[in-house]
Amino acid sequence: MTALSVSTSSAVSLRADALVVGVAKGPKGLVVAPGAEAVVEAFEGKLAEVLTTLGATGAEGETVKLPAPAGTKAPLVLAVGLGPAPEGAFGAEELRRAAGAAARALAGAKKVALALPAASADEVEAVALGGLLGAYSFGSYKGEVAKAPVAELVLLVERKASKDAKAAVERAVAVGEEMNRARDLVNTAPNDLNPKSFAAIAQAAGKEHGLKVEVLDEKALAKGGYGGILGVGAGSANPPRLVKVAYTHPKAKASLAFVGKGITYDSGGISLKPAGHNETMKCDMAGAAAVFAAVVAAKRLGLQVNVTAWLALAENMPSGSATRPGDVLRMYGGKTVEVLNTDAEGRLVLADAIVRAGEEQPDVIVDVATLTGAMVLALGNRTFGVMSNDEALRTRLHETADAVGEPSWPMPLPAHLRKGMVESTVADLANMGERMGGGLVAGLFLQEFVAEGTAWAHLDIAGPAFNEGGPHGYTPKGGTASAVRTLVRFAEDTAAGA
Ligand code: BES
Ligand code: MN
Ligand code: ZN
Repeated sequence: MTALSVSTSSAVSLRADALVVGVAKGPKGLVVAPGAEAVVEAFEGKLAEVLTTLGATGAEGETVKLPAPAGTKAPLVLAVGLGPAPEGAFGAEELRRAAGAAARALAGAKKVALALPAASADEVEAVALGGLLGAYSFGSYKGEVAKAPVAELVLLVERKASKDAKAAVERAVAVGEEMNRARDLVNTAPNDLNPKSFAAIAQAAGKEHGLKVEVLDEKALAKGGYGGILGVGAGSANPPRLVKVAYTHPKAKASLAFVGKGITYDSGGISLKPAGHNETMKCDMAGAAAVFAAVVAAKRLGLQVNVTAWLALAENMPSGSATRPGDVLRMYGGKTVEVLNTDAEGRLVLADAIVRAGEEQPDVIVDVATLTGAMVLALGNRTFGVMSNDEALRTRLHETADAVGEPSWPMPLPAHLRKGMVESTVADLANMGERMGGGLVAGLFLQEFVAEGTAWAHLDIAGPAFNEGGPHGYTPKGGTASAVRTLVRFAEDTAAGA
């Protein structure tokens, strides 16, 4: 894990392998961002000129390396592009992306000093979080890692870090480390991460952080009547689990339930996915990883709110014992579901978990799931969909996501799409409805399992959960930890009385 510290040393006198400065695209060319004044001075005021000569423009994500001038302790300067120069201060997301891009570009370096904008606590938090997220690397299976992530990041701040800045750094470290933990879980190969091993990881983390963890194994699930989770897990040699991770605060005035889809591998089951659609399906537990990371972060931050994460874990495999299209499952709570397509498995495990979560009467239930390809078609692979039975909650989650730099979009739950789904001839519901608007149909299915009067929202993160493209900003290839920041901020706002 990358270490992070704050220093009031001058950028030129700090011993480090590299010194990062921010640059932006001004109306008359490249400008150097605040925080790098001492570096500009060391270049005798010519840093912008030198960088322009090297072809730098200040465009977002651009990185240019140049030797440091004599008298600077660090041998290397890295200029990272922040994009268009704003009229006022730089936005938090611009700072996170730049710090992340710089940390990625400097992989292999031991100690990196960041001379980026850090005048306010918000700026300090953004640079710290972006740096920690950019310094992530998943290398568990490689014999030789080409370049180790930056081992130590030093944030340069002007004055002795205020109390606010200290809290900001602590927040960035808690959220950043838990996001990187979620990324590790997503990136772990599915032959290593199965429902049982995921549950064991949750138990260990619970012990480490003082969270209450309860695991229902296949026997307990059968006893409790969790037909959805059992039905999805029936084809696998790795039996399913339902994990409850609870954080309580003695002075909490509200309780949140976060429910995560945790399909450790989605082959589609008997409705097998064709080649080309299953190579990345280890990511189908990203919702469970996100809610788990969020509850641990809530605990580390000591938020004055109760947060319970429910991890609905199963492996969706075809076999002689697998659920067949045509089977009817009796879900937790008693509703029956005709399984028409075993590849629509996420909604089945989530339904059980949502009913169980609802029994504890939380103020809000938010589920997070890589639920449908239809949502990826609708919103692309960086934006998650937000659905809810409560318009104010949907708006609040969308705005919360916006505030933390996670692109999202409110989606409807049109009543007419419910029809196809409730028209199973043999059961209360079918697990499939109309093909058109498939992401919304899935949301409508989940809504059927929400207790009357409970505010519930559904985040379909199928697009942004896993980055199949190249890395950008603070986002690596593979697991991204999508929705973690939104959940943590939502819990923070709830603790503050929202
Ligand atoms: N895990 C998939 C959804 C998915 C697709 C996640 C792409 C990440 C990237 C889900 O279980 C699934 O297979 N959904 C089906 C539902 C359909 C059978 C109703 C889908 O979207 O095709
Ligand atoms: Mn599926
Ligand atoms: Zn799935």
